[in-house]
Amino acid sequence: MKQDTSVQTTNTYDDNEVVNHSSNGHFDEVLSARLTRRQTVFGGISATTAALLGTAGLAACGGGDDGPAAPVATTPEVKPLALGFAAVAKNKLDVVTVPEGYQVSVLHSLGDPLHFGDESWKNDGSESPDSYQRRVGDGHDGMWYFGLGEDGKFAPTRSDRGLLAVNHEYVVAPYGLHPSGQTPGTTRVASEVEKEIYAHGVSICEVKRGTTGADMSMIRGSRFNRRITSATPMTITGPARGSDLMKTKYSPTGTMTRGTNNNCANGYTPWGTYLTCEENFLNVIARAAGDDAKRSASEVKALGRYGLPQGRNAPYRWDTAGTDDLFTRWNSAVTGASAAEDYRNIINTFGWTVEIDPFDPESVPAKRTAMGRFNHEGAWPAPAVAGQPIIIYSGDDARNEYIYKFVSKALWDPKDVGGGMAAGAKYLDEGTLYVAKFNADGTGEWLELTQGKNGLDASNTTYPFASQADVVTFARLAADARGATKMDRPEWGGVNPLNMEAYMTLTNNSNRVALSATPTGSQLKPDAANPRFYEDAFTNPDGTSRTNRGNVNGHIVRWKEGATASSFTWDIYLFGAEASAAADVNLSGLTAVNDFSSPDGLAFDQRGLLWIQTDDGAFTDVTNCMLLAAVPGKVGDGTTVKAVGGTDTRRGALATADNLRRFLVGPKDCEITGLAHTPDHQTLFINVQHPGEEGPLTSMSSNWPASQNGAAAGRRPRSSTVVVTRKGGGQVGTA
Ligand code: FEO
Ligand code: CA
Ligand code: CA
Repeated sequence: MKQDTSVQTTNTYDDNEVVNHSSNGHFDEVLSARLTRRQTVFGGISATTAALLGTAGLAACGGGDDGPAAPVATTPEVKPLALGFAAVAKNKLDVVTVPEGYQVSVLHSLGDPLHFGDESWKNDGSESPDSYQRRVGDGHDGMWYFGLGEDGKFAPTRSDRGLLAVNHEYVVAPYGLHPSGQTPGTTRVASEVEKEIYAHGVSICEVKRGTTGADMSMIRGSRFNRRITSATPMTITGPARGSDLMKTKYSPTGTMTRGTNNNCANGYTPWGTYLTCEENFLNVIARAAGDDAKRSASEVKALGRYGLPQGRNAPYRWDTAGTDDLFTRWNSAVTGASAAEDYRNIINTFGWTVEIDPFDPESVPAKRTAMGRFNHEGAWPAPAVAGQPIIIYSGDDARNEYIYKFVSKALWDPKDVGGGMAAGAKYLDEGTLYVAKFNADGTGEWLELTQGKNGLDASNTTYPFASQADVVTFARLAADARGATKMDRPEWGGVNPLNMEAYMTLTNNSNRVALSATPTGSQLKPDAANPRFYEDAFTNPDGTSRTNRGNVNGHIVRWKEGATASSFTWDIYLFGAEASAAADVNLSGLTAVNDFSSPDGLAFDQRGLLWIQTDDGAFTDVTNCMLLAAVPGKVGDGTTVKAVGGTDTRRGALATADNLRRFLVGPKDCEITGLAHTPDHQTLFINVQHPGEEGPLTSMSSNWPASQNGAAAGRRPRSSTVVVTRKGGGQVGTA
């Protein structure tokens, strides 16, 4: 979803509105003091790295045989990584541009039928609402590829046949879905809302390579093809299962709910299931005026901390479409005598990580509550190590929110590969949730969020945490109480399989003010970890200009786990910037081959290549959004620099044409997001979200994907998954 730039949204809901008013420190505030001690902090990492490499084993790399991945007991050969393509030039074309020697094809787009029996998408919005339970949804975002064996089971190393799970984050108003866009008015048209409910969620489809070995196509009618929507029944598992907080008219026992929504980024598990994460659920959840009087003080506090004051209309207004339960359930107001008679708790059933078994179309997805509830951008696993816990990192994408870590109680047993939802229950329903605190000396602490420990109990003044259900459902409040560090809008993360260091994008912040300014409201001063306040000229599509201010272009942080589960060290890997910017803005030394703005998507492949994607509104007068490939260094490989405005900071090693290069540029007005690859690294899947979102429908700014192969006037833009391969085969990205 298009995110924060210096132009503030006029929507009633700001995706990134600040709801964290705790007194905890911002990440900004702690870096400068740590720099002086840096040299002592980052000494001696090689022994740990070698140990991790020896046991992590990159089990799913290479090979062609089906069957469970087994950890490699010996230290694998470490081949130096090198980028092997000519950088793609910045451009504003209405196509996906890839390097010379590469080719791109469209795998599926909004509205494509997954099964036979439904007509092809017609370009006029005439598809029935019901058919969207069998069509590809809208707003393609996070995704993952799972190798599919001839036995129908997870085949971790298989590259020529698999299942592709894709998130459908939101409906890109006003295109695609409806004949003439959304019908205006404060009361929504039921058939339009029904269609939107089914266009959200997740799609799963079978994909297969052609005989050339180069192209991957969707297999229409496959028995694995499936839609999970905002109305699909799912179980609630983990600490919040059965709690009073989960009880609804639909599930008086608080053990079930319907639908997953605003599925942004994703995760995956070593046992072969998909994790989809619920981010901007406030798009669809309303609360009636006067509702506070019917709630306890702690309920009102929790609702406020999650951005749902009384009298708030949801931007999508699904709750206004009629009296059917399909619609009324989206209003989180007290209307009945108890929680079993209304949907006062509906908000508590969103913001989770949802596990889906793509190999069993009949399986019931599970909201795994042990990983906490917030604007869940994604859930990124560290490579699994036999005999060690499963580790999953998450970010809460809103200004001033936190970074989390889940550590499973169960230790990884490779025999659980293919174990489906039962394995998920084993590893994801019990464990320890932590939140990150960044110390001034360059160390960090993972603060444990466990009820009954460290003051997280019923007498806590932040919130009365009477159970672990309270802690995970209101993880933001628990994190406030523990003193976690406020971060600048964490987006995607990833773990380098070569050294286990974790990366996370901080996409941009227009809310930052000059060091000399007096911040008001949620404004933040620049500081060492978010050091840049600057201005940048931007030319609007109509030729007028504006000035963007703040941390216009975003940056990427990274950390390395310490000797215990509660310690880490960290630095800043990369700063986005225009190459022409002053050196104290362009801190990483970007040039024409790699300058970018607003990093959002981020993923490591199994070779250790880092892929960075942008969702930008500050460089889009020069170039459409893009995908870059990187060979990253390691925590501590940089130096101290002074940023524009006078704030000292520390960045990783400078970017060069050798270690960071633009690989792909998307069509007009899109976001490039989602990254999956086959285990042999010959096929890359990329999502193009909201092409042509600037509209209007009567004068479309993009006709992609129809425009990929030439002029296509009148064709509606559609979010799509594209396949990128090398002509003639070979690994993508490397020589
Ligand atoms: Fe859906 Fe934070 O991006
Ligand atoms: Ca500019
Ligand atoms: Ca995102």
